Amino acid sequence: MDVQELQIIKNKHDIVGNSPGLNRAIEMAVQIAPTELTVLITGESGVGKEAIPQIIHQLSRRKNGRYLAVNCGAIPEGTINAELFGHEKGAFTGAIGERKGYFEEANGGTLFLDEIGELPKETQAMLLRVLQSGEYMKVGSSKVEKTDVRVVAATNVDLSYAVATGKFRQDLYYRLNAVQIAVPSLAERKDDIYLLFRKFSSDFSEKYSLRKISLSHEAITLLTSYRWPGNIRQLKNIAEAVTAMEAPSAAPGAERVEVDSHTLAQYMPREDDTLIPATVSTGSGSGMSENDKQMFVKAILDLKNEVDDLRARLDGISQPAMAQPRILEVRKEDFAPADEDFSEPEAPELTIRKASDDLIEKALLKHGGKVKPAAAELGISERTIYRKLAEKKSK
Ligand SMILES: Nc1ncnc2c1ncn2[C@@H]1O[C@H](COP(=O)(O)OP(=O)(O)OP(=O)(O)O)[C@@H](O)[C@H]1O
Ligand SMILES: [Mg+2]
Repeated sequence: MDVQELQIIKNKHDIVGNSPGLNRAIEMAVQIAPTELTVLITGESGVGKEAIPQIIHQLSRRKNGRYLAVNCGAIPEGTINAELFGHEKGAFTGAIGERKGYFEEANGGTLFLDEIGELPKETQAMLLRVLQSGEYMKVGSSKVEKTDVRVVAATNVDLSYAVATGKFRQDLYYRLNAVQIAVPSLAERKDDIYLLFRKFSSDFSEKYSLRKISLSHEAITLLTSYRWPGNIRQLKNIAEAVTAMEAPSAAPGAERVEVDSHTLAQYMPREDDTLIPATVSTGSGSGMSENDKQMFVKAILDLKNEVDDLRARLDGISQPAMAQPRILEVRKEDFAPADEDFSEPEAPELTIRKASDDLIEKALLKHGGKVKPAAAELGISERTIYRKLAEKKSK
């Protein structure tokens, strides 16, 4: 495949990077697209797996059919069979009407099953059957249905480990793993790091009419020498945070502001964080992965910095009057630009409570309202979440 063709695909899917590992993954997707083969996409969390099934779909003969993406880890165990395969009227309490499943909806198209390692064993058996014969049954029905769906699956856990521990069916693993596309981690494509930073930073500046950011030579070295356990997702968050915070300090009339390594370091997680266990098994398919842990710790550290800032303000050791309210405003409105806000900041305790409520809410949303995985991800007890929910209700 020549460089130009590859670049067209990257542009179309908003993919930035030129590393050999990334190019190989895209080339494999292009090659495999016209076939009917089932594909398994592997790679750490945040490496950009989600673009691959879209490339496959759009270059396949199914491109005019539907493309559906389903995050298996976000659907509660009790409803996943009904969501994937549909259910009959009255199949279970609450099944008022009939419902089509994703395998029916995606008939003639492509179904992307993300976090495939999270599928319950019973669902794995149903998936294997539909992969082998195109046949399935709706929940509560004994009628065999037919569908023509191409499945692309993805995982950020080591499925062979899940097979070894009995959590994942071996036959399904072999079936899915016939073609594996491995998306490399950011640490394996260091040359792409600054390219990606520039893209995320300039997209962000454009979106919020901010000045552009560039990095000094040393800052680029700092950026590329970090190991990026949260991969591109983490890099994007940091690029956006740096831009949001630093762009407003550009001198009047200046087109861009150069961020030095000292400033950048304030936004980077410390490599020697003792809070993070040195090795965490990522193969179990449950609990927090090392990446998640690092992201979570980062969120807590960010929170702590925010509270320290607020404390400093309250103690009267604040920085110039103009700078801080702008930063507060940017954070409050999720980086949306807004008029200056000179109102009193909230008390630190309130900010902490709100931030922890937000974290819980986000985790619940991510896990489709399931308390157990949300609690596991946050490293707090399920009881704490239930208490928070009850508090919220009684307000
Ligand atoms: N090469 C790339 N160029 C530009 N943006 C990218 C690239 N790869 C990933 N991204 C962006 O990084 C973020 C994370 O990517 P994505 O959601 O595909 O990760 P993932 O591998 O599916 O992670 P997870 O396993 O946690 O679901 C997304 O916002 C995506 O748009
Ligand atoms: Mg994903």
